[in-house]
Amino acid sequence: MSSAAQHLIAGDLVAFPTETVYGLGADATNPKAVARIYSVKGRPNDHPLIVHIASMDRMGDWASEVPEYAIALARNFWPGPITLVLKRGELAGDFVTGGQDTVGVRVPDHVVALWLLEAFEKVGGKGVAAPSANRFGHVSPTTAAAVVEELADYLSKDDLVLDGGACAVGVESTIIDCTGLLPRVLRPGAISTAMIAEVTGLNTLSVNGGDEIRVSGSLENHYAPAAKVLLREVPMPGQGFIAHKNIETPEGVIRLASPSNDEEFAQILYSALREADTQGLSEVVVVQPIGIGIGIAIRDRLIRAAKGRESD
Ligand code: TXA
Ligand code: MG
Repeated sequence: MSSAAQHLIAGDLVAFPTETVYGLGADATNPKAVARIYSVKGRPNDHPLIVHIASMDRMGDWASEVPEYAIALARNFWPGPITLVLKRGELAGDFVTGGQDTVGVRVPDHVVALWLLEAFEKVGGKGVAAPSANRFGHVSPTTAAAVVEELADYLSKDDLVLDGGACAVGVESTIIDCTGLLPRVLRPGAISTAMIAEVTGLNTLSVNGGDEIRVSGSLENHYAPAAKVLLREVPMPGQGFIAHKNIETPEGVIRLASPSNDEEFAQILYSALREADTQGLSEVVVVQPIGIGIGIAIRDRLIRAAKGRESD
């Protein structure tokens, strides 16, 4: 693992597992290395990146202002699937923040990610900038094989892909804007508004349309496979089908996943959508979960997937 940290120091890219999805990491203080993230992903470079750190002790390196409720969120949920958007500090260059005056910071909950981040800090690293390790416009990868499938043609020989198995959560982190008086959800994830309210004692706001903060993950057309995603149809023979286990598969329909609860739905969703593409299916019908915890995050991603293809 320390050799992976050396690769980061050298300016190479290191794709690594987190509990949410795989990230494509680079030294967050190295403009050239970070520029390679954008070219490998084919992503516009005004879309900000999340800086991954080994512990909340490092927040002060990246952020200039951390409100009390953000500290409560970090204490309660890190390591874990929540990203805090804070007023940026000196380390956070325009090349990481997309030119904004804020920075997204997260401590991921995965043993391989934490090893990498700790080893990187030991050799002088400050943080690892990492978007999801997919090409812009595709579904996030939740296995190392999916990362290789996405990016092998674009990585160089000195870049690495670390294999930490399948991601446990399966959808991207909850993103909270912590620059206002109240926490504001920019992207729903496994940490729900109810969980946030419980630890902060505050109401949470939700993102509104006319906002200037750029969360490209909040573009409407997002997180899509090549197959067309249909959300309100009865599946026909030859179409792919993803639905809770208790919903039967009609004759001739290709069942791609049968999760037994919303957590499992999140965990297998992206690999099931990838499987649709692998099988060359042109359409996938998904019966959306109705839960109000991670179910909200699943429906958010499905609605974007059904609308179009552009994604971080
Ligand atoms: O679970 C995750 O968050 C994964 C893993 C690898 O940590 N990362 C991830 O990164 O999903 P990415 O870049 O694919 O999506 C992050 C989203 C983007 O839509 C970006 O625009 C938004 O977070 N974002 C990052 N920094 C921001 C900031 N300072 N202000 C507003 N939005 C920000
Ligand atoms: Mg992404």
